Amino acid sequence: MKRWTKSVFASLCASAALTACATTDINDTQSVRSADPAPRQAGVANPEIWPSYEYPVPLQADDEARIADLLAKMTLEEKIGQLVQADLCCVTPEDVKQYNLGSILVGGNSGPGGNDLAPAPDWLEAADAFYEASVDTSDGGVGIPLVWGTDAVHGHSNIVGATIFPHNIGLGAMRDADLIEKIGAVTAKEIRVTGQEWTFAPTVAVPQDFRWGRAYEGYSSNPELVASYVGAMVRGLQGPPTNDNLLAGPYVIASTKHFLADGGTDNGVDQGDSSISEEELRDIHGVPYGPAIAEGVSTVMVSFSSWQGEKMTGNKSLVTDVLKDRMDFGGFVVSDWNAHGQVAGCTNESCPQALMAGIDMYMAPDTWKPIYEDLLARARAGTIPMERIDEAVRQILRVKGRLGLFEAGKPSERPYSGQYELLGAPEHRAVAREAVRKSLVLLKNQGVLPLAPGGRLLVAGQGADDIARQSGGWTLSWQGTGIDNSNFPGATSIYGGLQNAVSAAGGTAELSPDGSFSQRPDAAVVVFGETPYAEFQGDRASLALDPELTAPFVTMRELKAKGIPVIALMITGRPLYVNPALNDADAFVVAWLPGSEGGGIADVLVGDETGEPRYDFTGKLPAAWPRTAQMSDGTLFDYGYGLTYGNGAQNWTELPELDTAELAGDSRLWFGNGAPAARWSLLVGAGQEGDQTRITTVPAEALNGRARVTAENFVVQEGARRFTISGGPSSVQLRNFEPVDIDRETNADILLLVMMKVWDAPDSAQIGAIGPGSEGFASFDMEATGDFVRYGIPLKCLRSKGADVTSLTQPFVLNTEGTTDFAIGEVRLGMDAEMVLPCT
Ligand code: BGC
Ligand code: BGC
Repeated sequence: MKRWTKSVFASLCASAALTACATTDINDTQSVRSADPAPRQAGVANPEIWPSYEYPVPLQADDEARIADLLAKMTLEEKIGQLVQADLCCVTPEDVKQYNLGSILVGGNSGPGGNDLAPAPDWLEAADAFYEASVDTSDGGVGIPLVWGTDAVHGHSNIVGATIFPHNIGLGAMRDADLIEKIGAVTAKEIRVTGQEWTFAPTVAVPQDFRWGRAYEGYSSNPELVASYVGAMVRGLQGPPTNDNLLAGPYVIASTKHFLADGGTDNGVDQGDSSISEEELRDIHGVPYGPAIAEGVSTVMVSFSSWQGEKMTGNKSLVTDVLKDRMDFGGFVVSDWNAHGQVAGCTNESCPQALMAGIDMYMAPDTWKPIYEDLLARARAGTIPMERIDEAVRQILRVKGRLGLFEAGKPSERPYSGQYELLGAPEHRAVAREAVRKSLVLLKNQGVLPLAPGGRLLVAGQGADDIARQSGGWTLSWQGTGIDNSNFPGATSIYGGLQNAVSAAGGTAELSPDGSFSQRPDAAVVVFGETPYAEFQGDRASLALDPELTAPFVTMRELKAKGIPVIALMITGRPLYVNPALNDADAFVVAWLPGSEGGGIADVLVGDETGEPRYDFTGKLPAAWPRTAQMSDGTLFDYGYGLTYGNGAQNWTELPELDTAELAGDSRLWFGNGAPAARWSLLVGAGQEGDQTRITTVPAEALNGRARVTAENFVVQEGARRFTISGGPSSVQLRNFEPVDIDRETNADILLLVMMKVWDAPDSAQIGAIGPGSEGFASFDMEATGDFVRYGIPLKCLRSKGADVTSLTQPFVLNTEGTTDFAIGEVRLGMDAEMVLPCT
């Protein structure tokens, strides 16, 4: 028989319709039981079915005394300041001093002085400046040191020169928790060199649908495997749970994220909704939080996503009743990047609901000031209880106490600070290289591996000598884009590693991205796979490798036709349908996203002088490999599959191959290959209103013959549309079937990218977006270009010009005046513009 406790009842009451609660006596347990069984409200958890733990971090008497003393002395303003975290993009040391902010973070695209590639000493200098501002008591405050968080999610990955480990999906393949702890320890030490104290890691997502753009941030689809790693990673980062002065040793505080079911959203949509039952929520996604709590993890980051329609950031039943009360998590809870703005009834600038749900610290990167002011005004008005504020501040101060922040002094004076030789130190790189070796998964080998070291090797594929590509997202920049090998001093590309290994034995390795060669090779390694992405930018509509990335399949086939043994080496954040490569290659190796130590690949692929392997394959699939691009079509290789050299050569049965065009699907692509995306249309008219002509086939006419639309080549034959317009106003636009919401993309500095070639510039032009009742346009100085140029217009500009980015029916509109002639090859969301338009 279920026993209803008062607190369970109270929490149900808090989230139920208030009127129903008001009429019920809180002590009248009888009336609650009689609602047998009480219909459970969607999105409200029942803590009683969750496992309970004990947070092992002992409260220190001296810390507790200090906290009591501080709480007694702090002004309301100082308390509110502790609850707010600002991003480096948008805050100065002066702000930290004035608002007593408890924390800053550095988002993927931020860095000291606005430079996310800033050299390591600049980071330490910035850490000092912010620290000193936080402890400045010249204004009469208590001066609590701030804590600086960073996404050191695969090594200290925001820092040039740091050791970059394989992303978690690759670590999942190695099945080695001891090595995980070493990786945590190396990461912590490298973070300490530049003065930060907190990493937003490990991600303990248990991805269930690999169309999700963040799947690679999770170790595995198997909750047990994820759980077997979490404790080790937390221990590596923080030291043992009894460690009460982390900054005295080589440690930082960790954050398990994203609570809860970030990897369980329907259709793998990032920040989406997970409609699963509470039992699945607990038994799949909840499992890794057990070992995290048992290891004393200091912080938990709450997910952007929702469960049964309730955004996690506002879900008191899960954040407070389950995580804090039932599971006894004793650190503090931080929200995600403006995630509070997605809670029902909230905006980016105001969200008391998050605090009341159990969020202790708001990640309010560029909204910290309005969030601070809003919380302060509500606290003054008494609409958020002082007890809740004190409780949140107390948890933050406890973590700061355990960290040793009150005694540590300024960052540059702490152990490891400024020891730049530790960044990418040989012994650190050796740990990463071991992880690379152990994470490789062999899916096919018809006796061509290991490679003989003395021969002539061809290394083909665009990704073969590209460290950014082999590192993936969350590397130096948010998306892992806009960087090249020169940004990775001391690192080794896949080609570099192979070249070292074969030349050491008297062989040669020739780099040839397109697979052509001057001298016939003995074997060819063809590197292919995904290019970097992060978060929702990696969401895909299917489990197929993007069609534009499949050119190496042709290379493999051509080499094979010449009788050259082909080894396919796949860089990827997830298992994908790549049957043509699996069929054509003689051996197929999944390298995941190996990071800076490409040499680990050659360690396994290239044998010794006697032809024997130097290292065997040990990696096993951390998630099932799909048979087709649809998950529902079942698996080709099961979870746990992986060959070894010991298995010997394999008999191969040809796999079915699908038409790749069918497999495509990219929600960020609005127009490409000469056509609008499914459920979108391309229209030509004059201005926004009036007659619009929908362009389906070309050539076509519009504007009573003033406009002619023809095909133009771009990437593929007839991949663009050319608009030849005479006189008067004209408008080319993309209209979608249902309004699109690009609020999230707008907050993340994404651009509207338009690939255009201009023969004849119009008298004037404007580019913008339209929604029901809103529009935002910026002027566009269109000039003749001679070739296709990728223009970028910041979505923030469209918003500032008045477009309601949460609901757009025509998210792309190009208005021109006068005679003009131009072609559009592609319209999409992204970051890699060749020319960013000024917002005027
Ligand atoms: C991500 C988090 C990350 C945070 C700070 C968010 O967008 O979801 O995983 O820690 O940004 O960069
Ligand atoms: C990321 C940040 C990144 C930002 C870009 C966020 O979603 O988590 O790390 O810098 O977007 O504006």
